[in-house]
Amino acid sequence: MSRTPIGIVLNGVTGRMGYRQHLVRSLLAIRDQGGLPLADGTRLWPELVLVGRNENKLRELADRHGLTDWTTDLAAALARPDTRIYFDAQVTAAREKALRLAIDAGKHIYTEKPTAEDLAGAVDLARLADAAGIKHGVVQDKLFLPGLRKLDRLVKGGFFGRILSVRGEFGYWVFEGDWQPAQRPSWNYRAADGGGITVDMFPHWHYVLEQIFGRVRSVTAHVATHIDRRWDETGAPYDATADDAAYGIFEIDRPGPDGGRVVAQINSSWAVRVYRDELVEFQVDGTEGSAVAGLRHCRVQHRSTTPKPVWNPDLPATEQFRDQWQPVPDNEEFDNGFKAQWELFLRHVVEDTPYSWDLWAGARGVQLAELGLRSAREGRRIDIPELTGE
Ligand SMILES: NC(=O)c1ccc[n+]([C@@H]2O[C@H](COP(=O)([O-])OP(=O)(O)OC[C@H]3O[C@@H](n4cnc5c(N)ncnc54)[C@H](O)[C@@H]3O)[C@@H](O)[C@H]2O)c1
Repeated sequence: MSRTPIGIVLNGVTGRMGYRQHLVRSLLAIRDQGGLPLADGTRLWPELVLVGRNENKLRELADRHGLTDWTTDLAAALARPDTRIYFDAQVTAAREKALRLAIDAGKHIYTEKPTAEDLAGAVDLARLADAAGIKHGVVQDKLFLPGLRKLDRLVKGGFFGRILSVRGEFGYWVFEGDWQPAQRPSWNYRAADGGGITVDMFPHWHYVLEQIFGRVRSVTAHVATHIDRRWDETGAPYDATADDAAYGIFEIDRPGPDGGRVVAQINSSWAVRVYRDELVEFQVDGTEGSAVAGLRHCRVQHRSTTPKPVWNPDLPATEQFRDQWQPVPDNEEFDNGFKAQWELFLRHVVEDTPYSWDLWAGARGVQLAELGLRSAREGRRIDIPELTGE
């Protein structure tokens, strides 16, 4: 079968996300399967140009995977006529500048979230990209998780009746770095370096809520820096200046005959120990039934099978509440979520298939983070205006 090459500049591949999820689990996995099958019978073959700041790291990484095309000169990679897509998984603070260069160079854009450090920058990027006539996409990986795919299926199938509320619990303990190394990069805990759990996680919650339930119309948030001293990658202590927990309430307008106002509460924390089945879980309660969805699993309890718990603190609980739920079957095979979204974006670029997870969607995520932080600062609920210019 003939191969159609597509040049992709990958910036930030030495990082956690850039390496593991985007290079190895997505683009190299697409090559391992012989390329991406296209409608015309050919296969799209990603030709990768790795970009980074450190020559040694890039060379070592490229060698490890039999790749030969790498450079520390982003402008040179973008100037090449054989590169059509620019992908960015750098630290958040470095993203906007690089995306602007890539848009100026006429490349299609695919990028990690958040797309910029503030809303003005995120909206400007979306406008510039539209004006340049390029295609653009933003990573929204959580939508492709098996648990959330099954939850989405339940919502679309009308399982819940009128949806009342969503409760999300995300988080785990991130080691401080003194007696055991931290499992996340230290910039995440420094506000000046683009860190903070609100800017990291609210963009995710925005697309999850918007895509599965409806438009997010207000935010009320309380944020905290619970652990204010941490140790970095070299073992040196530093002041943690960014928020490491965000407690958010979001109001959602749900369209359709069973629509109405849905309230979602989502806790996000890097200072919580896990007593859950998965690192993120959402409980959705509706008039006809409820569901609990995590990364992989989803369980339901229908109205007709809802037991009748009776509050009596004098007696020990005899019911096994978790046993009163039924698993939702997979009914399909779920590929890695990052890879699945890469494939859709590549098809969008070469076959012009529809794609809605663009820089505007990314900007709405940045907006929720920005307004969430403002809500926390000002101690009040904030309405979310619709973005203009789309
Ligand atoms: N979609 C998701 O689920 C998800 C999960 C985690 C992180 N992210 C996003 O991915 C991006 C990268 O996060 P990560 O956890 O991989 O970070 P990381 O620190 O592991 O990697 C950062 C990358 O950026 C590069 N870089 C460029 N300029 C830099 C600078 N001035 N200082 C430090 N590094 C610089 C590094 O070399 C490295 O390749 C962030 O924007 C983050 O929000 C997304």
